[in-house]
Amino acid sequence: MSKIISVHSFRGGTGKSNTTANVATLLAAEGLKVGVIDTDIQSPGIHVLFGLEEQDMKHSLNDYLWGKCEIKDTAHDVTKNLGKGIKGQVLVIPKGQVFLIPSSIKVGEIARVLREGYDVGLLNDGFHRLVEDLKLDVLMIDTHPGLNEETLLSIAISDALIIIMRPDQQDYQGTGVTVEVARKLDVPKLLMVVNKTPAVFDFNEVKKRVEQTYNATVAAVLPHSDEMMTLASAGIFVLNYPDHPITEQLKQVVKLLMS
Ligand SMILES: Nc1ncnc2c1ncn2[C@@H]1O[C@H](COP(=O)(O)OP(=O)(O)OP(=O)(O)O)[C@@H](O)[C@H]1O
Ligand SMILES: [Mg+2]
Repeated sequence: MSKIISVHSFRGGTGKSNTTANVATLLAAEGLKVGVIDTDIQSPGIHVLFGLEEQDMKHSLNDYLWGKCEIKDTAHDVTKNLGKGIKGQVLVIPKGQVFLIPSSIKVGEIARVLREGYDVGLLNDGFHRLVEDLKLDVLMIDTHPGLNEETLLSIAISDALIIIMRPDQQDYQGTGVTVEVARKLDVPKLLMVVNKTPAVFDFNEVKKRVEQTYNATVAAVLPHSDEMMTLASAGIFVLNYPDHPITEQLKQVVKLLMS
């Protein structure tokens, strides 16, 4: 089983945060204790999917990086939040647990990180200490698009990296950069996920093309979905749509991560 899993894409808006949140939930459904850390300090967002409101964020990753608290103090158990369906229905809560380490959404705190930066080494210590302190089975790292210091660090320490791309010419080129970096950093397991594939595309062709272009395993080719757009990050897709083809494919990703 991969202990640290990073989810990355070269370009923005590919579906990293949704994929991270859904894969984490599926891992928790297997009974695992899963941590999810939002390293997208410039533009955090994954807390929305887990229903964590700003006023309920006791501490954020920013507080830890500025020495205001221990990393474990930034972890929020969001497992219960997963039970609230978008249509008001009660959903099956995973057997395991999901802990979220959010980044601050306060304007001043985001601006401070951009202005002053922080010690990236602390992030590395924080990842490992989180796994130890919370006795996590898995830590998933949601990242900012493109390459920056925290992304390189997260790729370097990961047992598995999920690279997400859309079947778009800009994504094809940019993704090559990330794949090359992952290979240079010797990531043990590299999985590609193609997301937002238009229904008119031949999905097998897309899979073949991506596999041939990057010489890497394509774990899933996900369709562009009206249900996902309508959910609009208000919840966890796999719990709200347990029988949807996207859920089936994400389970396949989980299987590959657990093997
Ligand atoms: N398969 C899909 N079909 C339709 N919409 C999708 C699909 N996957 C994700 N989306 C939508 O795309 C938007 C971006 O998704 P998400 O926030 O997960 O991407 P991201 O890569 O984390 O973005 P960012 O780079 O800004 O962090 C969201 O509105 C989400 O609902
Ligand atoms: Mg995101």
